[in-house]
Amino acid sequence: MNTWVKDAIVYQIYPRSFKDSNNDGIGDINGVRSKLDYLEQLGINTLWLSPVYDSPCDDNGYDIRDYQTILAEFGTMQDFDLLLEECHQRGMKLVMDLVINHCSDEHEWFEQSKLSKTGPYADYFYWADKPNDLKSVFGGSAWDYCESRQQFYLHTFSKKQPDLNWECSDLVSEIERMVDWWLDKGVDGFRVDAISFLDKSGIEDAPNGTFATEACVNRPKGHTHLRKLMSKVHTRDVLSVGEINARGTSELLDYVLPSRNEFQMAIVFTPPEIEVFHENLNQYYKDQIKVRIEVQRQGAWNANFLSNHDKPRQVSLYGDDGEFWLQAAKALAVLNLTQHGTPYLYQGEEIGMTNCYFDEISDYDDIDTIAKFQEQLENGLSSEQALALVSKASRDNSRTPMQWDSSTFAGFSKVTPWLKVNENKSTINVKSQEQDAESILQFYKQLIEFRLGSETLKTGDTSLHETADPIIAYQRQGDSCTYLVIVNLSSEVVLAPSLPESQTARLMFGEALSEYLPPYYFAIYKY
Ligand code: NOJ
Repeated sequence: MNTWVKDAIVYQIYPRSFKDSNNDGIGDINGVRSKLDYLEQLGINTLWLSPVYDSPCDDNGYDIRDYQTILAEFGTMQDFDLLLEECHQRGMKLVMDLVINHCSDEHEWFEQSKLSKTGPYADYFYWADKPNDLKSVFGGSAWDYCESRQQFYLHTFSKKQPDLNWECSDLVSEIERMVDWWLDKGVDGFRVDAISFLDKSGIEDAPNGTFATEACVNRPKGHTHLRKLMSKVHTRDVLSVGEINARGTSELLDYVLPSRNEFQMAIVFTPPEIEVFHENLNQYYKDQIKVRIEVQRQGAWNANFLSNHDKPRQVSLYGDDGEFWLQAAKALAVLNLTQHGTPYLYQGEEIGMTNCYFDEISDYDDIDTIAKFQEQLENGLSSEQALALVSKASRDNSRTPMQWDSSTFAGFSKVTPWLKVNENKSTINVKSQEQDAESILQFYKQLIEFRLGSETLKTGDTSLHETADPIIAYQRQGDSCTYLVIVNLSSEVVLAPSLPESQTARLMFGEALSEYLPPYYFAIYKY
């Protein structure tokens, strides 16, 4: 793997919510360009752009209508080229989102496929005369009827996201050409979306009521297709990260072991409800650390993250967005930036942005939230109860406009944005944190700089101490030094764990250990 990938600090931009440059209420590429100074000062060296391709935006761009055109709301290809050039001038890399499990039903391939059972696009999608009882991720059947073809097509996600048929060699060649086109343009790699579902051979025998995602997850031919594509991609100087569904470490390793040449690292997707309603998130998080330790032991590389556009805000989920907000956001930054692998930051985590807690379902935009709300109403819940339930895990929690300042629309736009601004923009925003030496933003800057300068934090061995919840403590051991990281991931005062002592330990971040550790205590010691 290239050195720059090991040194990367990746910052995920959700373009719709990052910065609106033309005041239409929707973030855009020129908005991203206008914030490159900010990102550079933060210490970011790699951007991952969520989809900016032409799309009807049924799933906010994860339904692509044309892979080689930029969505007009986001700007033009010329704007994109400038963004790429300006990133490269600063020594920053730009990684694209690649959505190739499905496309939009408005893509030309699907328009053509709908027309004929024998034409050149006939097999680009999955068609069936009689559908079975598979369920789609965003509610309802995974099959939809197409009048013109008098057949049903498969959609793992929404009905506007038909699944592409990777058994069709013409389709695969088109995808390979498109990927090459972006690489020739100079993009620095891909985050590959929903890639665990390429092999659909499981759908026929799936028991009634199974989710399409379960029926076709991690099947052998999916890996074969992926390896063929990625072995070509890896001949270039790129970063590759797969968004995968893994039901255990071995399924994860199948994607990231270097010998398999599939991905350099993986972002493991977990339905947000699993974490939001988990009985013991501390234990859950420790288990994630154990998985990362195993990945590292096997000679593979990790992608370390706490947030993205599919999850609630990390400070609200794992920390505290009330009394201990400041301390909790810093403690989580420590966890995100001191583990093995490449850290991924999601826009706004560096200022401790929180969940949004809207009062009305009409304030929500996310297709997933709305589908789940409907489902709860059908289960007999009142709208208040349904909203209370689905809002906790809503993906819109992380999609509210970036809070640049305390003005009406948080400096994101001068007009009403596509999704409401979080009311706490007057206290949580970039501008105020830039002026405050103790802010979360300043803490991120210091920690990123520290991480970039430390080979041990990037590649050192990791060992987890057996501490009782809610303490998380691990060691990172390198050739020249060892770091000990201790976090109290709770709002309780807890007894300090007994850890190996060293007379020469130097406190690099946080407070010195004492008998009792305050809420969201953290420390990084160097030996
Ligand atoms: C995963 C993406 O992260 C999510 O936002 C999207 O809805 C699904 N894949 C479908 O593309």
